[in-house]
Amino acid sequence: MRPHIEPFCDRDEGFKHLRLPNFASGMHYKMLSFDGDTGACSMTVQFDGGYRRTPGFAWTEMEMIIIEGEMQVGEKTCRKGHYLFVPAGYAMPEMTSPKGCLALVMYNTGEPSHEESTQHHPLAQVDLYHDVDSYMDIPWAMGNVTKPSVAAGCLIKLLNFNPMSQAMTFLYCMTPGFYQDNISYHDCAEEGYHLWGTSWMMQFGDVPTGGYFWRPAYINHGAFASEYGCIALGRTDSKLFNHFHYNPWSTPVQNADRSAARIYQRDPLLYKWAFSEDHNHPHGPEDFEQTMLRRGDEEGHDTEHKSDGHTHDHWHGHHHHADGSEHQHHHHDGDSTHTHDHD
Ligand SMILES: [Fe+2]
Repeated sequence: MRPHIEPFCDRDEGFKHLRLPNFASGMHYKMLSFDGDTGACSMTVQFDGGYRRTPGFAWTEMEMIIIEGEMQVGEKTCRKGHYLFVPAGYAMPEMTSPKGCLALVMYNTGEPSHEESTQHHPLAQVDLYHDVDSYMDIPWAMGNVTKPSVAAGCLIKLLNFNPMSQAMTFLYCMTPGFYQDNISYHDCAEEGYHLWGTSWMMQFGDVPTGGYFWRPAYINHGAFASEYGCIALGRTDSKLFNHFHYNPWSTPVQNADRSAARIYQRDPLLYKWAFSEDHNHPHGPEDFEQTMLRRGDEEGHDTEHKSDGHTHDHWHGHHHHADGSEHQHHHHDGDSTHTHDHD
């Protein structure tokens, strides 16, 4: 769990030297929020001119957006607004910053780490990696990714979406003169970092350039306004739903109760089942789609294709036979058929 950090502005803090095993020197950080259980954290990081990090991976998922300056990532030049999503175990090429740069760096599932390697970890979910120049290569879209929606004039660019938890990373901007008169809270934690510009909230006042919040669920925020506009990076740790209201005195407990009441009003049978005894344990009920046996998961079968030319494993899906029975395979290339035993 990360504590509620708000209001906070990184411009009020000094940089500290980042000294961690395997990290190159020339990194300075401001800690924005920190999870004392896992080591997950969000930091503003200043990379000195001449910074150079060896190729390698982290033991945690990480996200980064360049705030100022340039970072060379392998062949790619990442400029202001470049966003990277890096799964745990994904080996990045050498990273250098000849003239230095400022970045927002987020380690999501564990403490910052760097394992020198040119190979991905075998368990890395490499296809989740993506990076984009979010300023130049994504257009602004309406902020109504969820309904009820923020007021018109708050626009977003979706940067990452987790289809399981529905957690999101996005840029958001408020147009000059934006305002929204209601109060909001969510069932998810919400994080924000002002890349540029100032917005205002009734509870926490002005959020300037470098302003940051990590806001746990059920905390009132809003009304909102921005006189000259702002651009920020936002994240949620699960599905974002806007519970709007006009009661500035409601507490987080009352807000959470109201969320539960709204589930009851909308899905009474689900509510009764989920909240009845023995079903609301901390890790939640089982989702059979996530735990059921899949083709290729069977015991003794490798999920990766390996062959030494004499034997073959069963990476291609096929039906199981009773233990000890024989079956036949038709080869595509070899001499028609052969038989063999299962072990
Ligand atoms: Fe919010």
